[in-house]
Amino acid sequence: MKSTTFLLVFAVVLSFCQAQSETGGEETGGEEEHVELFTTPTTKMGAATSDFGYNLFRALASSQASTNIFLGPISVSAALTQLSMGGSERAQRQLFRALRYHTLQDPQLHNTLKDLLASVKSPGKGLSTAARIYLARRIRTKPEFFTLVEQQYGVRPKALLGGPKDMKDVNDWVAQETGGKILSLLAKALPKALGVNAISGAYFKGKWVTRFGQTGLMESFQVDGGAPVRVPMMQQDNYPVKMGADSDLSCTITQLQMQDGVSMFIFLPDDVTSNMTLLEESLTAEFVQDLSMTLLPAKVSLTLPVLRLSYSTDLLPLLGDVGLSEWLADTDLEQISAQPTKLNSVNHKVVMETAPEGTQYASTTEAGSHLLYRVDRPFLYLVRDEMSGALLFIGRVVNPKVLSI
Ligand SMILES: *[C@@H]1O[C@H](CO)[C@@H](O)[C@H](O)[C@H]1NC(C)=O
Repeated sequence: MKSTTFLLVFAVVLSFCQAQSETGGEETGGEEEHVELFTTPTTKMGAATSDFGYNLFRALASSQASTNIFLGPISVSAALTQLSMGGSERAQRQLFRALRYHTLQDPQLHNTLKDLLASVKSPGKGLSTAARIYLARRIRTKPEFFTLVEQQYGVRPKALLGGPKDMKDVNDWVAQETGGKILSLLAKALPKALGVNAISGAYFKGKWVTRFGQTGLMESFQVDGGAPVRVPMMQQDNYPVKMGADSDLSCTITQLQMQDGVSMFIFLPDDVTSNMTLLEESLTAEFVQDLSMTLLPAKVSLTLPVLRLSYSTDLLPLLGDVGLSEWLADTDLEQISAQPTKLNSVNHKVVMETAPEGTQYASTTEAGSHLLYRVDRPFLYLVRDEMSGALLFIGRVVNPKVLSI
C-alpha cells in the first residue's frame, strides 16, 4: 500500500514537470493557451474572473506579507463591471483589461457574466455575494446609468444622502443580500469626497461531499517563527481526494469535493513557512485547470482546521497593481456624471465557514490509509466552481488561531 502511494505521488510529480515544460515561455504563450483550454463563453468568463482574482490576491498578498488574507474575487469583478458601465470608451477598455475581459471577444459579455454569477450563486453551492455602486450625494448623476446597471445586473446603484445613515444603509443592504451572513461590511463611514464607492462582499459555507467523522479536536498548528497554537480541527481516515506533489513549488496539493460541483484546492508547503510567494506567483486560471486534470485520486487520512473567518479590506490601494493606475488618475466616468468623478473606495468583506458535515461517509471497509495529509502549518487554499472554472474564494492561512467571524 505504502509503495503504491509513493509511486502515485512520484507519477504526479513527473506529469507536473511535463506540463510545465510544454507550456514553457509562460507569459507570452499564456493567452493562446486560454483559447484551447477554455472554449465556451462561460468557461472563458470563468477564466477571466479567476485571473483577475489571482492578480488581486497577489497584490494583496504582497502588500500584507505573512498574514491571513482572503478574497471573494468574483464579487469584486461584479462591482467593477457595474462601474465600467459608467465609463467612457477608454475607461471601459482600461477596466476590461484589468478585469481580463479583453481577450474574450464576447459581444454578450454582460449577459455572460450575469449568467455566470447566477450559476455560481445557485443555492446548493453555498456562495452568496453582494456588489453595488454607491455615489456621493453631491454628484449630479445621469439617470441612464442607474437604469442601465439595474436592467443588466438587477441591482440599482444608489446615491448616498451624505449623513450618518449612509453606513447603516450600505450594511443593511449587504446583510440582506447575503442572508444576514455579512454584517457591518463598512466598519467606518465612506469617504466624504465627491466620487463613487464600489462595495462587494462574499459569503461561503463549505459543504463537503464526504463528511468528517472526528470533529471538535484541538490540534497543534505550527506557526512560522512562533510557538505552535491549538486550533479546532476535523479528521477523517480513508478520505477520498485528488492529490499530487509539485516539486518546483515544494508543496503537496489536494482537491476536496464539495457539493454541487464546487471543490477546494489546498496547497500545503512542505516546510513551515508563511512566505508563499513562489506559489502565489504561479496561480492562474490555466495553472489550476491543468492541475485539476493532473491530480490523481487517493484515499488519505485527512486533518483540516475548522475555518470560521471574516475579513475585510479596502482594495482601492491595490488597483494600481492590477493595471489600473492610469485609469485611477483619470477615471473618465462620463456616463455617471459630467463632473469629474473619482473612485473613493472599494470595500470588500468575506465570511467563510466550514463544517464537518457531508452527504457521504468515508469507506470503513478498507484498511486505513497510510498516507497522511495534515494541514497543520501555513497553507493556501482556493474554492472553485468546476463547471465554469470560476474562482469563488481564495485565502492564505498563516495562523488559524486569530480567525473568527
Ligand atoms: C519569499 O520567498 C521568495 C522566493 O521564494 C524570496 O525571493 C523572498 O525574498 C522571500 N520573502 C521574504 C520576506 O522572505
